[in-house]
Amino acid sequence: MKLPYPAWAEVDLDRLHHNVDVIHAAAGVPLLPVIKANAYGHGANVLAIQLLRRQEVAGLCVWTIQEAEALRREGIKGRIVALGGVAPQEARLAVELCVEPVVGSVAQAQALAGVANRRKPASVHLKVDTGMARLGADRQDAFDAIAKISRMEGLSLAGLMTHFAFAGENRKGVREQVESFEDLLGALRGAGKNIPSCHAANTAGIFLHPEARFQLVRPGIGLYGIQEFAGPDVGLKPVLSLKARVSWIRDVSKGQTVSYGGIWKSPGKRRVAVVSLGYADGYSRLLSNRVHGIINGKRTKQIGVICMDVSMFDITRTGAGERDFMTLIGSDGAHCIGALDLAHVMGTISYEILCGIGNRVRRIYHRSGKVDRKLLMRVF
Ligand SMILES: Cc1ncc(COP(=O)(O)O)c(C=O)c1O
Repeated sequence: MKLPYPAWAEVDLDRLHHNVDVIHAAAGVPLLPVIKANAYGHGANVLAIQLLRRQEVAGLCVWTIQEAEALRREGIKGRIVALGGVAPQEARLAVELCVEPVVGSVAQAQALAGVANRRKPASVHLKVDTGMARLGADRQDAFDAIAKISRMEGLSLAGLMTHFAFAGENRKGVREQVESFEDLLGALRGAGKNIPSCHAANTAGIFLHPEARFQLVRPGIGLYGIQEFAGPDVGLKPVLSLKARVSWIRDVSKGQTVSYGGIWKSPGKRRVAVVSLGYADGYSRLLSNRVHGIINGKRTKQIGVICMDVSMFDITRTGAGERDFMTLIGSDGAHCIGALDLAHVMGTISYEILCGIGNRVRRIYHRSGKVDRKLLMRVF
């Protein structure tokens, strides 16, 4: 199918569902998929609908109340947890939208209790800091907060959670965080308190730390098919491919430079493709002259500085022409370029590559190997 877009991201929904299967098989408990930041660039609206159809999915996690609001506007009715919490001025909106914000203090819970009531109750998740030193209450404060929240009218505690600082790299660090969380649970049990559903594990936590699975898990990057942690392949499949049209082809001669600053000088007669994807679309300038694309099933070097809107490739021996497209992430023929490959070149993580894919890049959804035309009609 010919697509009328300069650049597009193909999102394979069959692979998304495959990853849900793999993650749920490992976790053995219901999932709270993390679809913040536009589902790590994959398009939160469409993924929310797909994920909530799965019985393994108990609800969704976003970061902000505004992300939750956008989902509700799309008609999404399932449970939504707002991981980033809620500012006092957003409390009313959170309650109206039936979002479950994460709170880290009695004051934050009080702001919600101030607008919730018996007719419009609110549920919150209390976050405990066990070692990340970012958001969340200290253990003792959490113990006191639970008692106080349980007495607030219109407010109920739907979850008790923590977040790991080293899930992919440091088993000892995670063990210490789990122990700290378990200590709190033990103290609560000892005091005869009701303990709500507990959740702690992100993707790496699910696969590497069975002791961290509790009653719910919060997978993010694994849903999108990327194994960011070391060890045996767990069978996830990348969901997103990034592609762009060739907008121009030119022949250059020996010594000619290409793009700003002349960092690439042609070693001889070369054919150059100008591809319609640049750093404004998430193809970082830091990748300049250091990565490859795939065109016509052939791997080809990106050359010169990546511009805001376009990037150039040496397609001399590919036989490719203006009607072809370049794969920047994904596979074509025998070749494959992963978001992880780009991340390694930039010294970052695949999350940043995926979240950085810009708004001009049209998201196209595939099911059973075909473009889903119904989803294509929707504007994202
Ligand atoms: C609180 C919280 N839980 C879960 C996740 C999901 O993590 P991952 O994408 O590593 O699975 C994130 C992501 O940043 C998060 O902030």
